[in-house]
Amino acid sequence: MKKMEDRKTEVQTDWRRIERIFLVGYMGAGKTTVGRMLDEKTDWNFIDMDDFLEKKYGMTIRNIFEEKGEKTFRQMERRCLKELLLKTHVVVATGGGVPCFDDNMRLIGQCAFCFYLKSSPEELARRLELSGVEKRPTLQNRSGRELVDFVEKTLSARSPFYEQADAIVEGSVEELFQKIAVIARLYTA
Ligand code: S3P
Repeated sequence: MKKMEDRKTEVQTDWRRIERIFLVGYMGAGKTTVGRMLDEKTDWNFIDMDDFLEKKYGMTIRNIFEEKGEKTFRQMERRCLKELLLKTHVVVATGGGVPCFDDNMRLIGQCAFCFYLKSSPEELARRLELSGVEKRPTLQNRSGRELVDFVEKTLSARSPFYEQADAIVEGSVEELFQKIAVIARLYTA
């Protein structure tokens, strides 16, 4: 049986978590598109973590990978994550790898309400080919069947992290927006 004091702390933690919404999911899942729609149509401000990181360090993600390597990039991501978890009434689209390194997903779970935007490997690969694989160094310019196979393999390794989100949402960009906006509207101060 939990003491009264413990239960009070849990409730307070939950309210604070809902002051920020985090969108996680594989590259091409629609995190940025849905985040921009929430920015336009709700009182919450949208922050794209990739853009935030590029501005903070004054380098493109491609250059960071080329000049400093992935390990340094993941450390930079973690620093940005900690900064963003202090903001309120924000929707943050994380980079696709963020939840899968260190204990980032635990931090997100403690401090934010988190949605996993889920899609099939085929759909993700289709969208990635349209939006341009060259922007994303981890894809190494793969295309066609090779890209689908790569997405399938890496998505199955990443899914256990993504699935720790508070809610899993699937569907078109409009459907994703509708589902997530409910939470943003309910909890607008
Ligand atoms: C990455 C995803 C990218 C970006 C970087 C690495 C990944 O973000 O952070 O290229 O490892 O999944 P998006 O998910 O916004 O494309």
